[in-house]
Amino acid sequence: MSGQPPGARGRGAEPDVLDFPLPPPGTMGPPEGSARLRESCPLARVRMPMDATAWYVTRYEDVRMLFADPRLIRPTINDWPSRPGQPADDGPRLVTIAELDGPRHAALRRALADPFSSRAVRDHLPRIVGLAGRLLRAFEENGPPGDLVAGFTDPFPLLVLCDLVGIPFEDRDWFLPVLDAALGGMVTSQEGRRVTDLLREYVAALIARKRDRPGDDVLTRLVRRCDDGELTHDDVVAFGLSMLTVGFGISSFFLADTVHTLLDRPHLWARLRDDRELMPGAVEEFLRYMPVMNGTVILLATEDIELHGRTIRAGDAVIPVPACANRDERVFADADRLDLDRAGATTGRRGHLAFGRGAHNCLGAHLARAELTAGVEALLDRFPRLRLAEGQEPTWDDESVTKSPLTLPVDW
Ligand code: HEM
Repeated sequence: MSGQPPGARGRGAEPDVLDFPLPPPGTMGPPEGSARLRESCPLARVRMPMDATAWYVTRYEDVRMLFADPRLIRPTINDWPSRPGQPADDGPRLVTIAELDGPRHAALRRALADPFSSRAVRDHLPRIVGLAGRLLRAFEENGPPGDLVAGFTDPFPLLVLCDLVGIPFEDRDWFLPVLDAALGGMVTSQEGRRVTDLLREYVAALIARKRDRPGDDVLTRLVRRCDDGELTHDDVVAFGLSMLTVGFGISSFFLADTVHTLLDRPHLWARLRDDRELMPGAVEEFLRYMPVMNGTVILLATEDIELHGRTIRAGDAVIPVPACANRDERVFADADRLDLDRAGATTGRRGHLAFGRGAHNCLGAHLARAELTAGVEALLDRFPRLRLAEGQEPTWDDESVTKSPLTLPVDW
């Protein structure tokens, strides 16, 4: 490897710690300086927003390898960042599927393989399309203009997930703020413990309800597996917590970034509208191109790992960054260009890494693809001349490591 990256800022005991790479203000990214890091410092030391340091990994081959490396585990929010003086079991309790390992993780993934398979998602597609239509009818009645984030890209993936999993969508005004507090509460352990306990109790109450009144949903299926002794109650709670924490937010970000990008390039919007055969390849290209996955996955080394002449020490945090790996020119020619015809290059051995890899790869990958497809197609069908509203800029949260528009004013 390469030595110290240009622009590195000295900080205390670690001379080459960089500020965490954020997308430029008012854009979705990719993170500023990440292309330079990929070339000159593919394993960089960065300071995280919660005042911890981590290794930031930007090259395709490294990200691909590290996602599936068994020497790296997914820490619970109690394990990392470490809080000196706090007993290990005194913090928030947010164990999701990602933090399970070994036979428990394998049993849960086995139980979930069928309900989240490409066949099951295909069977569910008419419902997903119906839900998109329902939201867009209401959106159309209230405009033009309208904010597409509030009216569609935010609620749609949540509505789909609730419908499939068996979480009451009407509970969202209660659980969304609690979730925000739980995910933001990683730094303050007492408040974190309080809100994560609330979420656990909510999921436990849902499980009890499914036992009394079974539904045609994934949670009911898991409750049956639990009653058959294949899974434990805690496994089903971990599943419910996973759905709340990772089951819809990222899909919303991808959908909003995709629609914004297409409206910003009206020729691509028109091309997709007029040639739907492009859609399957285009969806893979959206997943490659939208730089959402920046700092969303944090791994913890259980032993020393050598990479690019540096040592990742046991206990160090490692962040594989698909947002940067997916723009690596070693794998994707003209990587910074959104190319709807790239299809062949985005699947298989050299496929994009948006969904990770290995035992913990994304459980919801087929569902996410279906949501992106159905979401964009529903918009193309209902609003063939959709455009960004004149004189009203989208807004962004520039502090966030993961960027998508907060508001997307549109006209039709
Ligand atoms: C475009 C949308 C999405 C993207 C890009 C995405 C990406 C990812 C990635 C990179 C991982 C691997 C994390 C790791 O290695 O620790 C992951 C795991 C996971 N995802 Fe997704 N995800 C998306 C949507 C969804 C949806 C809709 C669901 C709902 C079922 C979901 C459920 C999960 C679960 C449960 C895991 C943990 C799997 C495990 O640890 O075994 N994701 N996702």
